[in-house]
Amino acid sequence: MNDALRILHRAAPVMPVAHFQNLDHAQACAELFAEAKVPTVEVTLRHPQAWQMVKIFKDIMPFAKIGVGTVVNRRQMLRAADEADFVISPGFSAELSILARKTLTPYIPGIATASELMAAMNEEHRVFKCFPAAAIGGVALIKALSAPFPDVTFCPTGGISPSNYQEYLALESVACVGGSWIVPSEDALNKDLAGFLAMLKDLYAS
Ligand code: 3PG
Repeated sequence: MNDALRILHRAAPVMPVAHFQNLDHAQACAELFAEAKVPTVEVTLRHPQAWQMVKIFKDIMPFAKIGVGTVVNRRQMLRAADEADFVISPGFSAELSILARKTLTPYIPGIATASELMAAMNEEHRVFKCFPAAAIGGVALIKALSAPFPDVTFCPTGGISPSNYQEYLALESVACVGGSWIVPSEDALNKDLAGFLAMLKDLYAS
């Protein structure tokens, strides 16, 4: 099994896609995730202090694999290769793929079409984020792509929710789904920390 595939299987059933409001929020979520033994987290580069947030997760969750998400350029890929366990992009770029290979970084590019899949497969990728999954066709799209591309594995992400994630997981080509719904906002943490902890423990115990 290659490294990217191992990451997706480890993440199952849901890879948390984390955007934080500030460093205290990131720290509180990392502590919650550590207690629930969440195995894998994607910390997105969508905040000026995102790299510090990645470090917070690495420090508080040494048992977990911490990835950097929303990696869209060379500078981010090179830094992520040093500071994270894996890298995720919303789309595919051969240049980033080559850099990931050179730096031996497990890399999961995003795809939305058959053409992007073909381009990424030419760079030896077989494991993909399918993004933005719900907006581009959801379960039906993934089923349709799996016919001509039977050897690829997906982590559908974008618009997936507690009410439909099981439908994605039922597909053979789906190893896990990605979602921000399992990352509590600061408000949700203040209101129902215990409820979130119970939900996470349930999710990863099953
Ligand atoms: C992502 O970056 O993968 C998405 O923003 C996550 O999508 P969601 O917020 O709809 O779960």
